[in-house]
Amino acid sequence: MEIVILPDAAAVGAAAAARIAAVVRAKPQAVLGLSTGSSPLGAYAALADLVRRGELDLSRTSAFALDEYVGLPLGSSQSYAATIAAEATGPLGLDPERVHVPDGAAADLEAACEDYERRIREAGGVDVQLLGIGTNGHIGFNEPTSSLASRTRIKTLAPRTRQDNARFFGGDLDAVPLHCITQGLGTILDARRLLLVAQGEAKAAAVAAAVEGPLSAMVPGSAMQLHRHATVLLDEAAASALTLRDYYRFTADHQPAWQRVG
Ligand code: GLP
Repeated sequence: MEIVILPDAAAVGAAAAARIAAVVRAKPQAVLGLSTGSSPLGAYAALADLVRRGELDLSRTSAFALDEYVGLPLGSSQSYAATIAAEATGPLGLDPERVHVPDGAAADLEAACEDYERRIREAGGVDVQLLGIGTNGHIGFNEPTSSLASRTRIKTLAPRTRQDNARFFGGDLDAVPLHCITQGLGTILDARRLLLVAQGEAKAAAVAAAVEGPLSAMVPGSAMQLHRHATVLLDEAAASALTLRDYYRFTADHQPAWQRVG
């Protein structure tokens, strides 16, 4: 795993954008894995800047979101479909026809999960998956004890996740759905590259458990340890609980030129 400690959240966003841009410049029709929440916003802002300046064209890419709530009122602005449209599709100049989000309003949710897996497969698989991490170690909505081999499926949100996400629902815990559809850990691990971004001290314990702790379904983010091409971009605060902080800095300081991105 490549662990990069950066001075602040803006640098994390810029570094994530540089890595995604490198993938798309090499493959203009790349398949992007998008995530929601506050963590990826800096990356989206930095990508939008590159697009605005004419340094990057994302219009030929496809995109798949990680997850979606189940049980929200139709047209809810809190849905991840609405969030992705507002924060990614528009600002990044993606083709809305090729931006996919699991259908949390489907009459047959299990069929919707299978259909999502099929669509990812038919698109050729995800080239680079952007990830955040929950304070309980989840990635996507794969809550602790999620199978390391899981595929897209229906999950019940953990009480801590519902509390963390209540801020997106005006602080009203009762308004946060109980269920969701999420890509599984097995689905996420199929992406060719993983790019996890985390900012702030609230994420420090989850990051340390995912990166340095034992591989465990109790910390779904630790599944990244199984991936051959996983990068973790952290600000100082999110990196503060890592035991090998100095080693990661030493590695970055001695990175061969051919390995540098951005
Ligand atoms: C959310 C999302 C995840 C996200 C995580 C962290 O609920 N399902 O994809 O990475 O929890 O959220 P945030 O970035 O807002 O802290």
